[in-house]
Amino acid sequence: MNTRWRIQIEGQPEAFEAEPEQTILKAALQAGASLLSSCRNGTCRACRCRLLTGEIQYLIEWPGLSAEEKAEGWILPCVAQARSDLRLRPRGDEE
Ligand code: FES
Repeated sequence: MNTRWRIQIEGQPEAFEAEPEQTILKAALQAGASLLSSCRNGTCRACRCRLLTGEIQYLIEWPGLSAEEKAEGWILPCVAQARSDLRLRPRGDEE
């Protein structure tokens, strides 16, 4: 079964789909969605978003987020894969 997850970034008109093996950032850029990024390896935090709904899985063991940030729902889409449909709020809308 090839499940594709539907991802909605708040403030953007169109949702997009992600394959389970794609990072959320890669799927967003491929779909033409706007999402900040730089290192794409989980260290610079440029892509930081808040996960409003849904489940993700990380490709790396220690993404560049504190325990508090994780508890608050922050994620790094460049090193995360969707494991359900997602709703995300980009960092710029929080700060
Ligand atoms: S692009 Fe650097 S942490 Fe995601």
